[in-house]
Amino acid sequence: QLEQDSVVEEISAGPGVIHFKVNRKLLIFLLNIHTCDCLTESFNVFSCFSSPNIAKKFHAGHLRSTIIGNFIANLKQSLGHDVIRMNYLGDWGMQFGLLGAGFSQFGCQEKLKQNPLQHLFEVYVQVNKEAEHNEDMKQAARDFFRQLEQHEGEAVSLWQQFREITVVEYQRVYKRLGVHFDVYSGESFHQDRAQEEVQQLQNQGLLKTSKGTGVVDLSPAGDMSSVCTVLRSDGTTLYITRDLAAAIDRKEKYHFNEMIYVTDKSQANHFSQLFQILLSAGHSWADSCQHVPFGLVRGMKTRSGEVVFLEDVLDEARSRMLHNMSRSTTTKELENPEDTAEKVGISALIVQDFKGPLQSDYSFDWERMLQAQGDTGVFLQYTHARLCRNEEAQAAIFDPSLLLEQTSVSILQHLLRYDEVLFQSVQDLQPKHLVNFLLKLSHLIASAHRELPVKGSHQDVAQARLRLFSAACSVLANGMRILGITPVDKM
Ligand code: ARG
Repeated sequence: QLEQDSVVEEISAGPGVIHFKVNRKLLIFLLNIHTCDCLTESFNVFSCFSSPNIAKKFHAGHLRSTIIGNFIANLKQSLGHDVIRMNYLGDWGMQFGLLGAGFSQFGCQEKLKQNPLQHLFEVYVQVNKEAEHNEDMKQAARDFFRQLEQHEGEAVSLWQQFREITVVEYQRVYKRLGVHFDVYSGESFHQDRAQEEVQQLQNQGLLKTSKGTGVVDLSPAGDMSSVCTVLRSDGTTLYITRDLAAAIDRKEKYHFNEMIYVTDKSQANHFSQLFQILLSAGHSWADSCQHVPFGLVRGMKTRSGEVVFLEDVLDEARSRMLHNMSRSTTTKELENPEDTAEKVGISALIVQDFKGPLQSDYSFDWERMLQAQGDTGVFLQYTHARLCRNEEAQAAIFDPSLLLEQTSVSILQHLLRYDEVLFQSVQDLQPKHLVNFLLKLSHLIASAHRELPVKGSHQDVAQARLRLFSAACSVLANGMRILGITPVDKM
């Protein structure tokens, strides 16, 4: 009973199957409307990511959190949401007692200004070593931290200096990565509020005592078989207490509809406890908070050994990429090869990280991630740069029947899936859908470059192909930007 029409050109039946052949020309008209409008409602999204700890090592987990959080924020923004990007620094706790006390002995203002992250880290390592056997050092650290908690002048101003210098340094490095934050917050901001929230828990009858510490009972039976400590026996707050205060404060300030925390999976329990406590304390919006966990990276090393600073990884990516590029003739035409190598090197890091499910651990592999052939960020950049070499299509309108070869049709069909892929990505916040979509697109484009020559083709055919290449280029560039990659025009 089915009849063919302008959409379905042909219908045929075989044993157990019915084939529908869709009019391929329609694909080309659809090509002009590939913007995503799957949103019905715009949300305020709050994204908390990167969040390194001052004076401690910036580890692979912080790199992952930085690029994943950036991807999620870009994705949400591209779908029309308002996003607030927050960096919640580990800027409070006994480590500052040690750092403050150690600085007077091992620190040097000159070095601090020249190379702040390096110097603070060195002091931190030295003072930790010293404190292992030196009771006076330990006492000095406790004293310094107490002064901080009591807002005493000198300690606070030293701490502030550490913090400010660190933030400036981080900002410089984030800029290289193409990442920015709307707000730099930190655990230190929520000291006082954390105490108030503990008081609030007490008023609500939710604060219990267990072995001298303040706890919240999270066991379903209410028999204290599973508790979460929110107050130490000396009355100081913990990481979770500060997160509790921070969440409430953000809800009040930013009225978010959704809050996303990006950290490694070892903190899954921390966030599940945090959300449970918020809910028991009557903050029903905690249901709109979620933790995006990711797995470990094994073996992230640079030539000089273990990675201490994010910048070392970026430097290594750039220098390795520059070395690989030096073999190519087109590198000589680049105005700023370092800059190109940096952007391409960073894409390699990102694609390696985003290819699989975020929850999985993976092994860091410089050689593999920087391969020009194969499923890498370098390949995406190469494809983009090659597309940029095409001249602009002159004709806006062309004959659809000129793009009916299988390769063209495959590209068109693939491009039309872009919205769907973004939609799928925003459902589970996994970048792998988009990465794999762009890699597949790049492979299709590679075939198209072989099979659909522009030079030497009849003018109308050439124009139609240029139109196809330019549509592919804009989807590729758009997708790369969402991943946090800056597409290069030449390499
Ligand atoms: N500073 C923490 C760490 O390095 C991560 C903070 C994550 N964000 C949060 N709101 N707890 O492990």
